[in-house]
Amino acid sequence: MSAPKPSSRTGSRAAGQPTGSRSPGKSHRRFLLPFQGEALSPPPVWLMRQAGRYLPEYRATRDEAGSFLDLCYSPRHATEVTLQPIRRYGFDAAILFADILVVPDALGQKVTFEAGEGPKLEPIRTAADLARLDPAKTGGKFSLICETVERLRGELPDETALIGFCGAPWTVATYMVQGEGSSDQAEARLWAYRDPQGFQKLIDTLVETSIDYLDRQVKAGADALQIFDTWAGTLPDNEFDKWVVAPTKAIVAALKERHPEVPIIGFPRGAGGAALWYVDETGVDGIGCDTAMPPYMMSEAFEDEDVVVQGNLDPLLLVAGGDALDERVDEILELMEGRRFIFNLGHGIVPQTPPENVARLVHRVRGE
Ligand code: CP3
Repeated sequence: MSAPKPSSRTGSRAAGQPTGSRSPGKSHRRFLLPFQGEALSPPPVWLMRQAGRYLPEYRATRDEAGSFLDLCYSPRHATEVTLQPIRRYGFDAAILFADILVVPDALGQKVTFEAGEGPKLEPIRTAADLARLDPAKTGGKFSLICETVERLRGELPDETALIGFCGAPWTVATYMVQGEGSSDQAEARLWAYRDPQGFQKLIDTLVETSIDYLDRQVKAGADALQIFDTWAGTLPDNEFDKWVVAPTKAIVAALKERHPEVPIIGFPRGAGGAALWYVDETGVDGIGCDTAMPPYMMSEAFEDEDVVVQGNLDPLLLVAGGDALDERVDEILELMEGRRFIFNLGHGIVPQTPPENVARLVHRVRGE
């Protein structure tokens, strides 16, 4: 059994070699500099779900586009909502507006987003369900998403980096198998225990499709990539190795072969100490830290791994605002001073966030 070794520092990357040492010149996009070996003060800042329902202009564009998936597949509307938070707050990076469930939808699984209910999918539970997924069908929908990427590169300020993304195979599979969001991902975990070979086929399909999808996003103009593994934290160590680490490693290896200059950030939410193993094994350039990540890991343990750290303000502090927000922002900045760090939340912005608190956070981070 290959159990995670949280204290391991002997992985594929040698500590002390900045990931950016292969880059020819320093980027004019601040967001990219930590990946080129620079510890910036103030750090670059962007926020997960920075485009979303907390912004009135997002709600207006979404209504105009029709359904949530129509919004994702309309290059004009998706470009507009990606730019909205950049106009308001001048973040150092924009994140392509789409959703991790675009991948199952493009593969031919029925996906809908009911207002106020979250996503619903026609669940995949059998080999016959699996056989209906068709990677050859994804081209048309991925082209629409990539058209958004191209438009964005043309419309974003030159100094703003553009992040492309996908969901990690494990997290995407949990929705595909359960048919909806769940707190324990029981259906996917049970399938993986009862029929690991069958479940592996689903994961392999997602690995191949995600490589193609991310490759296309980079060719269309994405400067960096993030892999969202929202449900990484529910798996015991050996399952974490099989379904989180191995698929992510395969995606990172394939992208590194094609685009060695494009940094990849992993976000294995809830992984705790196993995030060190994840960094060591997968070869990601950046690690997204959730709200519960211990401070010593963010400031010290990851530094020994030679990885850029991103995170980890509690999104609810953006709802609370005031002194509680300011104090925690200051604490994080102090903890990460001198480190290669990108300021972000520990999870996405929630809809009830007052937009003025986001402005307050950005000013506080930048010392304005
Ligand atoms: O960060 C960004 O601004 C870029 C766009 C983005 C969205 N979803 C837009 C979205 C990104 C990167 C995602 C990732 C995503 N989607 C994840 C991983 C990160 C995380 O939040 O854990 C997951 C698990 C999903 C799946 C998903 N999409 C759920 C569970 C839901 C419903 C619950 C919710 O938070 O609304 C969505 C819908 C969704 N994706 C919205 C947005 C802005 C809200 C849709 C609306 O307008 O009603």
